[in-house]
Amino acid sequence: MTRILITSALPYVAGVKHLGNLVGSMLPADIFARFCRARGHETLAICATDEHGAPVELAALDEGIPVADYSAKWFKVQKELGNQFGLSWDNFGRSSSPQNQELTLHFARALWKNGFLELRTTKQAYSPTDGRFLPDRYVIGTCPHCGYERARGDQCENCTRVLDPTDLIKPRSAVSGAQDIEIRDATHLFLKQSQFVDRLRAWIDSHKANWPQLVTSIAYKWLDEGLKDRGITRDLEWGIPVPDDIGEGKLKGKVFYVWFDAPIEYIASTKEWADKNGKGDAWKSWWYGDAAKDVTYWEFMGKDNVPFHTVGFPVTIMASGEPWKLVDRLKGFNWLNYDGGKFSTSGKRGIFMDKALEVAPADTWRYYLIANAPESADSNFTWEQFAGTINKDLADVLGNFVNRVTKFCVARFDGKVPGEGAYGDDENALIAELEKRTQQYTAFLEAAEFRKALGELRAIWVAGNEYMTRAAPWTHIKTDRAKAAVGVRMGLNLVRLFAPLSWPVMPQMAVKIHQAIAPVAYENGAIAWPRRPMAQELDSLKADAPINPPDVLFAKIDEERVAALKLQFGGGD
Ligand code: MF3
Ligand code: ZN
Repeated sequence: MTRILITSALPYVAGVKHLGNLVGSMLPADIFARFCRARGHETLAICATDEHGAPVELAALDEGIPVADYSAKWFKVQKELGNQFGLSWDNFGRSSSPQNQELTLHFARALWKNGFLELRTTKQAYSPTDGRFLPDRYVIGTCPHCGYERARGDQCENCTRVLDPTDLIKPRSAVSGAQDIEIRDATHLFLKQSQFVDRLRAWIDSHKANWPQLVTSIAYKWLDEGLKDRGITRDLEWGIPVPDDIGEGKLKGKVFYVWFDAPIEYIASTKEWADKNGKGDAWKSWWYGDAAKDVTYWEFMGKDNVPFHTVGFPVTIMASGEPWKLVDRLKGFNWLNYDGGKFSTSGKRGIFMDKALEVAPADTWRYYLIANAPESADSNFTWEQFAGTINKDLADVLGNFVNRVTKFCVARFDGKVPGEGAYGDDENALIAELEKRTQQYTAFLEAAEFRKALGELRAIWVAGNEYMTRAAPWTHIKTDRAKAAVGVRMGLNLVRLFAPLSWPVMPQMAVKIHQAIAPVAYENGAIAWPRRPMAQELDSLKADAPINPPDVLFAKIDEERVAALKLQFGGGD
């Protein structure tokens, strides 16, 4: 057995995440983690909030609370929402943790000692009123291109042009509004990424075969354009302070750049997990040296994060000169759009995790989102498509199947698995089909090919439904009880099979479905994956075992409700 380490890109701590964030990292990582556990693999699923950086400082300023309180508050909200969405992290940590502080300093010191960090002088905005250097986005002013008055020093939000603070007309401080902006020399640490181009290229080449093309093409693009050395310190208060022994004492009051410490939190969150659970050094066996040789490390993220994970973080690891684990399988996603436009946190456009749960249960969102995951291209959310998927796949196919079979069993077979009759050609054909489809479904999940996997899952439910329609026990019951019994017995065995197959995607529904047949016995924290030949899986219920029909599993969403939701969420059309 190999061990499976899974990380999802760490969500910025500022505010509630939208469904585009969810489907691009946390949800697929969770489905994959559940699948791995169900298969019996020792699995560790790691996430955290990404808490440092200028945007968080600014957001706290906006809310008028200290940035530490701001971060603590939204960390809690995000963790709670993740739980409600069934995200089964082994640890959901914080990049502001002492563990990350310690590991970030460890890496920075190793890089400094190995000569891969260099002091450089740059020009930077300074405000005497504020008594501080201002990071680019802390300088606001009028855009020289479009005249927008609140353009930031890194980019104009209105015309999207990339800017330098010195481009702005009438620049002022975002902290205080002070207009006494000067350009002064500032000293920062630079990581000599350019020295790693060849090693990075060789490493990416070695993964060409099993990384999505989306990922390798982004990685190569960065290498081909020539890797620039990267500033890894910033003039902020909130962050991991640079210690005196790095940078000849010339970096007083500076912190590490958020993209330097955030990926290190993958490791640190693993350490948080070990510390919380009294597991001592166990965290290291997932990440370091020979002890981690049997670990396959998977990362999940949106495409904007790919450069930082194919270049930035790997350079940190390589430059440390220590045998930390590099990612083995990197799964990147395109964008999920909202009704033809972008989801936007700042523009409050789209559906956010808290509001989504007021509309429909977590599992229906999980199913819809992953069935339409933006894998090979961007995908688009519409309320019509959402309602159509719930109504057809979940209510008409899966939900109706489970209810129809279990209720009929109660009505005509005393709520017990009927033992009469023997499987014939129809049943054997179904067994052969599901054997093949379950193998394909498993293989797609193993490869983290979610759309294809979900296509098979749906086909499995459909095959069950079609079988039931042909077997028609409700017709045969009048003339041939044994024949009806065969149909019902197979139907109940199908319900039993659907529970584990649905569990990674819809953990709560899968439990309800399973309980229709028997209480769940968890193995390795999961409903175990079917392991026996399909002929046995589909003939495993004992005669006379009791059945408990569940309540309606999936509520339909009608046209009126769709119209109301579009209005409520400003979907437009
Ligand atoms: N917070 C970043 C984003 O949402 C992702 C950080 S991934 C990490 O885009 F590994 F660097 F933390
Ligand atoms: Zn502009």
